[in-house]
Amino acid sequence: MKRVPATPATILEAAQRLREGGLVAFPTETVYGLGADATSSRAVAAIYAAKGRPSFNPLISHVPHLEDAKRLARLGHVAERLARAFWPGPMTLVLPRSVDCPVSDLACAGLPTVAIRIPAHPVARALLEAVGRPIAAPSANTSGHVSPTQATHVADDFAADDVMIIDGGACDVGLESTVIDATGDVPVILRLGGIARADVEGALGISVRVATGEADTPASPGMLARHYAPRTALRLEAPAPEDGEAWLGFGPEPEEAHLARARLSLSATGDVLEAAANLFAALRALDEVQAHAIAVAPIPRHGLGEAINDRLRRAALGRS
Ligand code: TXA
Ligand code: MG
Repeated sequence: MKRVPATPATILEAAQRLREGGLVAFPTETVYGLGADATSSRAVAAIYAAKGRPSFNPLISHVPHLEDAKRLARLGHVAERLARAFWPGPMTLVLPRSVDCPVSDLACAGLPTVAIRIPAHPVARALLEAVGRPIAAPSANTSGHVSPTQATHVADDFAADDVMIIDGGACDVGLESTVIDATGDVPVILRLGGIARADVEGALGISVRVATGEADTPASPGMLARHYAPRTALRLEAPAPEDGEAWLGFGPEPEEAHLARARLSLSATGDVLEAAANLFAALRALDEVQAHAIAVAPIPRHGLGEAINDRLRRAALGRS
C-alpha cells in the first residue's frame, strides 16, 4: 500500500499504474473507489481479489464525460434526461451496453448492461481524464466493511495490498451514488444514495419505483435480471466431459477432454485470478455451442475461487 496526497504528479503516476493493470484508490464526492482498468478482465479480477468479496457483483465504470458514456452504452430518452440533470454527480445509470462496449465481461458480471457514473470530484475527474479509459471501481472497502469516506479508511482495509491510494481529503456526500436502471422507458432505482428519489422524480416529472433487492422480479419493464445465467445446464465439479457436453476446464486437462463438443479452459495453469478474468466470457462462448450441458471442472475454493464457485452454483441452479 502506498498513500500519496493528490497532486498533478501523483495523479499522472496513478493513471500510468491503472493503464498497466494496477489498482488505485481515489476519492469521489460519494466515497473512495478502488479502481482498475475496466477494459481489462485481469485488472478487474484484482479488484475482487483485494476486496475479498465472495461473489462477483457487477461494478460501476467511471468516465469523465457524457461522450465517453455514450461510447460504452446506449442512452434512451429517460437516460439522457437523468444524465443532463445529475451528471457529473452521485448518480449511476445502468444501461444497455453498446455493440462495441470495451468494458470487460467481468466488470459487468456477464450482464448485457453496464453501470456508468460520471463523478464530480476534481481528483476523480483529473484521474479519469489522464487514464483515457473507463475505470471500474467499487467502494474501496474490504468485504463486510462500511464504505470509506476518508483515505485513512482505505489505508486500514488495504494495508497489505499492492494499492496506490490518492488522498483527496474527506468525501462530501459520504453516501454511495444512487443507482438507477435506465435500460427502458420506466426507470427503477436499484440503490438509494447521494441523489434523493424526489429529485429523480422532479427531473423526470413521473414517480419512480425503488427496487426491493434481489427478489425483485424482472417482469416489470426496465428491470433486467441482475445476474448473468447461461441457458445451457451446468454440471459442476465434473472430472471430465461426457459425450456431447461442452467442457470448461481448469488446470491440467483430463484425457476425455477431446470428447467435448467444444472446450475452453478457465486457466490451464490453475490460476484462480486468471480463471475469474475468463469466467463470464467462457460461459457465454460455451453457451453458444448448444450442448445439452456444460461440464465444469472442480475449481479450488481459495482466493477468488470462492466467488467463482458461488457464481457457478447460482448459474447451475438456474437461479439468476
Ligand atoms: O458512489 C458509488 O457508487 C461508489 C463510487 C466509488 O463510485 N461505488 C460503489 O460501487 O458504491 P459498488 O460496487 O460498491 O456498488 C455498485 C452497485 C451495486 O449495488 C451493483 O449491484 C450495482 O451498482 N450495479 C453495477 N452494475 C450493475 C448492472 N449492470 N446492473 C444492475 N446493478 C448494477
Ligand atoms: Mg460497496
